[in-house]
Amino acid sequence: MSKTIAGFSKLSKSKKIDWIVDTYFSNAEDAKRILKQYWNSNDKLQQLHDEFIENTITNYYLPLGVAPNFLINNKLHTIPMAIEESSVVAAASKAAKFWLDRGGFKTEVISTTKIGQVHFMYKGDVEKLKAFFKQVKPKLIEATEAITKNMTKRGGGVLDIELRDKTVDIENYFQLHVSFETLDAMGANFINSCLEQFAKTFKTEALTFDLFSETEKDIEIVMSILSNYVPDCLVRAEVSCKVEDLSEDKTISGEAFAHKFVQAVNIAEVEPYRAVTHNKGIMNGIDAVVLATGNDFRAVEAGVHAYASRNGRYSSLSHAAIENGVFKFWIEIPLALGTVGGLTGLHPLVKLALEMLHKPTAKELMQIVAVAGLAQNFAALRSLTTTGIQQGHMKMHLMNILNQFEANASEKQALTEHFKTHTVTHNAVLEALNALRA
Ligand code: MEV
Repeated sequence: MSKTIAGFSKLSKSKKIDWIVDTYFSNAEDAKRILKQYWNSNDKLQQLHDEFIENTITNYYLPLGVAPNFLINNKLHTIPMAIEESSVVAAASKAAKFWLDRGGFKTEVISTTKIGQVHFMYKGDVEKLKAFFKQVKPKLIEATEAITKNMTKRGGGVLDIELRDKTVDIENYFQLHVSFETLDAMGANFINSCLEQFAKTFKTEALTFDLFSETEKDIEIVMSILSNYVPDCLVRAEVSCKVEDLSEDKTISGEAFAHKFVQAVNIAEVEPYRAVTHNKGIMNGIDAVVLATGNDFRAVEAGVHAYASRNGRYSSLSHAAIENGVFKFWIEIPLALGTVGGLTGLHPLVKLALEMLHKPTAKELMQIVAVAGLAQNFAALRSLTTTGIQQGHMKMHLMNILNQFEANASEKQALTEHFKTHTVTHNAVLEALNALRA
């Protein structure tokens, strides 16, 4: 039975665990043992993890895999991926190898601007508000100098502040719409600190603006926050080759494959039900690298899907075409990533992942992540339009099923061999395992 508890956050870790296991688990000792198993014996490392969040009771592991052979702008990369889904890393590796033999991936960063907004209510004459904004704008910039000094020195900072009239949508609603360049930082803290200072200065300065009436002086700040919609923080990744070079075996010609592949992408461009799954496949690659490099995958997910709907209908993030006998497949995607700040300097595995990627700048990481998405999408569409997805997927899933039935090493070996020529289903694995055990 669930019960409430006061002051849980103030309890020691072991007291928190005692309460959890006593409240929720029929076998408290067993639950405690499992929680402890995932706990790191290195106290310092465990403390680091404990302190990432609140009320930590153990660690939640994900496998960290690697996909080698990614040739990106003529430079080789091995890409770290943190993900639980079978076949994602294998698919990425396969796609990397396929394009390695065909010139690799070409990428470019199109833009790196991020956005933050101060949302406020103003009851009064819009012309007077415009006059006030014109007067206060330099003061807003000045008031954030302590926050922006270092970023500005390195070439980033506040790019512009605009006053936006949103009264068509909500009565009295206006915004300070601010653009930022945050260089190698994802920039959330930087942007939010600037915005909160803008809001404070804006409100205070309004009190002494001569043209305002008493009502007009009373600007109500609703909130100040960055936007995870970053359509001007955009990266492009592309692969291309002659159509005839697409074929790897005799089961399908390069022409037939290219044609079917383009059709599949076209469908995702016009059909939202398909587009969501198509883009989910892209995010399999993107999230895995975003997570491995200590970035915020929720922010990336939110921004990417908003971008996929930017024309009023949810659509594919990738595109394909055949032009003059050349197959071209590309993605353009918004990615706000950081390679300094946040977890990047704290989490030992994140540091390793970044070192494996040759300590990239944020711009370089954007390109690597976009490639991981495109590669994943290529692998998925290649399977979907040829063999179907389940053949490869269930082969990879075989190990999960075998683990579920607690197969030992020799059983795993025998059944992996067996299922090279048989179709994997849950039942087929169980039957084969039972036959082996009998
Ligand atoms: C599964 O995680 C992802 C796919 O469904 C993507 C797709 O359908 O393109 C295979």
